[in-house]
Amino acid sequence: MLSPRIRSTFLDFFTSRGHRLVPSGSLLPPDPSLLVSNAGMNQFKPWFLGDVEPGFPRATSVQKCVRTVDIDNIGRTRRHSTFFEMLGNFSFGDYFKSETIAFAYELLTRHYDLSPDRLWITVYEDDDEAERMWRAVGVPSTRIQRLGAVDNFWSMGVPGPCGPCSDVTYDRGPSFGREGGPAVDSERYVELWSLVFMRSVRGETEPGGGFPVLGELPRTGIDTGLGLDRLAAVLQDVDSVVQTDLLRPTLATAEELAGRPYSPVDREDPDRVSFEVLTDHARAIAFLLADGIRPGKEGTEYVLRRLIRRALRHGRRLGIQGPILGPLTASVVTNLGPSWPELLHEAPLIEDLTTREEESFDRVLHRGTHLVNKAIRRALTTGTHQLPAKTVFTLYDSHGFPPDLTIEAAQEAGLTVDQTHLNTLLNPQPNRT
Ligand code: SER
Repeated sequence: MLSPRIRSTFLDFFTSRGHRLVPSGSLLPPDPSLLVSNAGMNQFKPWFLGDVEPGFPRATSVQKCVRTVDIDNIGRTRRHSTFFEMLGNFSFGDYFKSETIAFAYELLTRHYDLSPDRLWITVYEDDDEAERMWRAVGVPSTRIQRLGAVDNFWSMGVPGPCGPCSDVTYDRGPSFGREGGPAVDSERYVELWSLVFMRSVRGETEPGGGFPVLGELPRTGIDTGLGLDRLAAVLQDVDSVVQTDLLRPTLATAEELAGRPYSPVDREDPDRVSFEVLTDHARAIAFLLADGIRPGKEGTEYVLRRLIRRALRHGRRLGIQGPILGPLTASVVTNLGPSWPELLHEAPLIEDLTTREEESFDRVLHRGTHLVNKAIRRALTTGTHQLPAKTVFTLYDSHGFPPDLTIEAAQEAGLTVDQTHLNTLLNPQPNRT
């Protein structure tokens, strides 16, 4: 099933069950505590919190999301994307767990025709109720696993509504990883759909990464997110998200530019990583630009600049000589424009801005790459397996070469960088150019 049909099947299912179809919010979030929209529920945050009376009790949407926490996963796993579309259904004080679970099971097994035998479920450690409900729809207890807060208690990463979640994962088979369910291997048992049972309010992140739960929401709510890329990879039976119809044309453009084919077989192949980074980042860059975000030094603008620069580095690594991001983003526009008209509308601007940013960074990249390679060769002879933080800092301070790109190059050569030391050197300057 191709992605346009996956989207319409989802939206038809929920609109015919009383959900209001709501357009995606912009990638520039309404909530100033977020750099970029990261979930379908973002636009409904005040409704969940009770700050604003919900306009209707049920909603469904396809939300454009960018997850900066996953940028470094691109090329490492088969399932992560920087930009992705999240299919969601929401309840604001209306239905709760049992209906949500029944909806998810029916849609996946009867409308997307996923084999029930390959579905595995995770529930929050103390959520007996959710486990009982999954068993009631037909999932055997042998395929339901309990996980702790890290995996099964969801929040936006910033203060706001939160709650335990139950995730539906799909067994992609032994060639993807070890047996034992999602508790053991998240690449083989890929998480498709997260069902969040919103009930509490969280505070600021504490040192160490946790957060306090400050109290209960005025009414419980439902917030779900089904990843379109991942479902497409399963339904189209392809190895990774870059091979779905959402990204395959852009990957093909990257192959054309590089003059050689992408091969998914060798997970250690640096060319495979570069092809995947280019393909993934080109889509994120096109969507961020189409939503009015510009490359810059701070916040959301820096997220975009970082993606552009990293994509360029991987493009030049593949030996591409001429323009990279213009042709790649153009293929994103052609492929996804029919579903996302803002891409078509902003196409000339996307091409112009990516080209300009590419030209201005190319010189820094060229000179910087030469210096980084020299520093790496030197570090390799010391036998410490470390690229000194001071070197990373100097490359940034004197040559404008972004630390994240130096670190990535060091890691590719098997070297580590002392991040704490680097942070002290960069402080009080932010880690960016
Ligand atoms: N908000 C949850 C998530 O992003 C479910 O949509 O995973």
